[in-house]
Amino acid sequence: MEHHDGLALEVDQLKKVFRDRSAREVRAVDGISFRVAPGEVVGLLGPNGAGKTTTIKCILGLVRPTSGRVTILGRDVASHYPGILSQVSAVLEGSRNLYWRMTVWENIEFFTGIHGLPRRQHRRYFEHLVERFGLADKRDVEVRKLSQGMKQKTAVVCALAKRTPLVFLDEPTLGLDVETSYELRETLKDLAEEENRTVVLSSHNMDVVQDVCKRVIIMTAGRVVADDSIEHLMGLFKTRAYRLVLRGPAPEGLEAGLAAHFPGLKVQSTPHMTQVRLRLPEPNDIYMLMDLLRDAGATIEEISQEEPDLEKIFLEIGRKERENQCNSRIP
Ligand SMILES: Nc1ncnc2c1ncn2[C@@H]1O[C@H](COP(=O)(O)OP(=O)(O)O)[C@@H](O)[C@H]1O
Ligand SMILES: [Mg+2]
Repeated sequence: MEHHDGLALEVDQLKKVFRDRSAREVRAVDGISFRVAPGEVVGLLGPNGAGKTTTIKCILGLVRPTSGRVTILGRDVASHYPGILSQVSAVLEGSRNLYWRMTVWENIEFFTGIHGLPRRQHRRYFEHLVERFGLADKRDVEVRKLSQGMKQKTAVVCALAKRTPLVFLDEPTLGLDVETSYELRETLKDLAEEENRTVVLSSHNMDVVQDVCKRVIIMTAGRVVADDSIEHLMGLFKTRAYRLVLRGPAPEGLEAGLAAHFPGLKVQSTPHMTQVRLRLPEPNDIYMLMDLLRDAGATIEEISQEEPDLEKIFLEIGRKERENQCNSRIP
């Protein structure tokens, strides 16, 4: 048996097969493996039904895996259960694990209390969290009287307040309005950087993962289809798509001249400025582009390469997966 000392989390060949009502097998998690180093902030990204929640529940020992092994901080979860749970905290999808008739502060004290954290010693940290999540003026309000967003933030605060080395957040921004979701992501990202804790965050929303995490594990249909740093994934899928801003209206004949060489051309012109979007067939075509612009008498105000977003990457990976599956069926 291989040993990987110093890992925060290791998931090895994890599999979970459910049976639905008609006793058909549902392979919710179909033999996935990944490792997470201490301090990493990892996103588990995939569409609904991909197996994210089941993976997290298996890691937390809430669902018994059909096969495979989970190791937390070097200890096998199955044989160190439930003691191992003192090392992790989690906010699970849909269930906010809060006492609705207790205030925000009472919930924090309660949940850290059963976790064995002496409240006096950690009071300042609780205050810091409440402050960071914008709950300071709500700390003495009963949870049931809070908005959906604030309940969600309180659940996250209660999880973080336990100060465990590992934190799991399953769809933490689900059901939040855009503004609250954005605010929560910002806070999570900052905290993750400051505290050097290991965070596994699941989401079906690429923006959330892209905003908070440095690494992403992409799941579809119970399998891992990509596991990479977000930066590297973006690099792999970098297109030669450019956006240029020219001074004044588009010079005459420019659009026709560009259209002859560059695919995906879009020109939007106003009396003050012209925006050009295009793709370069080859990297060195940038020189030809510059020549054409100079010959047309254009003044370049701005030039930028368009970043691919995770959404495009995600669709592309999904497409390749399906292609591979189709190919493998052809004898
Ligand atoms: N308790 C269960 N019994 C039967 N099937 C389940 C159960 N929990 C999840 N599933 C199925 O397993 C698959 C993965 O679900 P889930 O882990 O919740 O995915 P995700 O969190 O990525 O949306 C889905 O097809 C879901 O219907
Ligand atoms: Mg889920």
